[in-house]
Amino acid sequence: MKIGKRITTLILIATMSFVGVGCSSANGEEKSARVIRVAHGQNEDHPQHKALLEFEKYVEEKTNGELDVQIFPNELLGATSQAVELCQTGAIDLVVASLGNLEAFEDSYTVLNLPYIMDSKEHYHEVMNDEEIMGPIYESTRESGFIGLTWFDAGIRNIYTTKKVINTPDDLKGLKIRVQTSPTNVKMLQALGASATPMSFGEVYTGLQQSVIDGAENNELALVNNKHGEVAKNYSYNMHAMLPDLLIVNARLLDELTPDQSQAIVDGAKLANEFEVEAWEEAAAEAKAKAEEMGVNFYYPDIKPFQEKMKDLHAEYTQDPDMKAIFDKIRAKGDEILARNEKKEHSKESSETGVN
Ligand code: GCU
Repeated sequence: MKIGKRITTLILIATMSFVGVGCSSANGEEKSARVIRVAHGQNEDHPQHKALLEFEKYVEEKTNGELDVQIFPNELLGATSQAVELCQTGAIDLVVASLGNLEAFEDSYTVLNLPYIMDSKEHYHEVMNDEEIMGPIYESTRESGFIGLTWFDAGIRNIYTTKKVINTPDDLKGLKIRVQTSPTNVKMLQALGASATPMSFGEVYTGLQQSVIDGAENNELALVNNKHGEVAKNYSYNMHAMLPDLLIVNARLLDELTPDQSQAIVDGAKLANEFEVEAWEEAAAEAKAKAEEMGVNFYYPDIKPFQEKMKDLHAEYTQDPDMKAIFDKIRAKGDEILARNEKKEHSKESSETGVN
């Protein structure tokens, strides 16, 4: 973040701290509400913003207005990495951050960030809903000042470019592809032969327009909500990552609030998760249709050659025993789902043919 922008952000936050609306306590006395600041990088049409509005409504109702939730979309309080830093200090209470951004704060997020670690949407969702896998990961950043509360679907990430169509990894040779500020994403694009260019989400449109980069990688919503499809007309479903966003909270907040207020935040986050996951598929399909109207072409390359290139990266990241333990749990779940689906398929066939 530029220094000027950073100062503006800090002034904005400092001013906001004094803006609490009045609410009545049990004995009828007027007292000012505790402001809960939530920052994210999407615009107001995005399912995550809509889910956060549900969170706001729930928390304010449940606490009879003792908590006043204020949502700041569009990276208004700074690019996501800076917003996470402000969440560590408590200047922002909650932030929606991509796993790519969180990787800089804790290694265990790195494993979830590995390309092609998830087999399918079913696998990805089951991992994210698995307390045993995600609980320790959410807690792992407590000492750094924040913890994970819940997750939001951010679809499947694919590569899109302004000029060249990507059908094989070879097509990426020499292209400058924007990635999140994540070492894993940088290594992934390098393994594919591209020149990885880390940059904040808010700078990607201009980067594409001014040919600072030749492409980027993201879900379909970026084409429309962030207008990347105005400039990048070739979107290839190489399916390298199913990467959620996490709603993180300042680690001290839940202890500072009353038990009822903390519970309202935890339950409100769960509600927002359910709302967003439910809304995602339709939003992605709508974005794809709108992108087609904008002239974006969608391609479906064979993903195997892309997967092959990731073997070394998987081997490198599983050398650390802690990361390997998470990796193995995620892969075991993938295999379990595969076996379950095969069994289902088998019993369906048997009931159709009458043969066991
Ligand atoms: C998606 C994701 C964001 C992320 C962005 C990016 O929009 O939902 O959390 O910041 O991609 O590529 O930076």
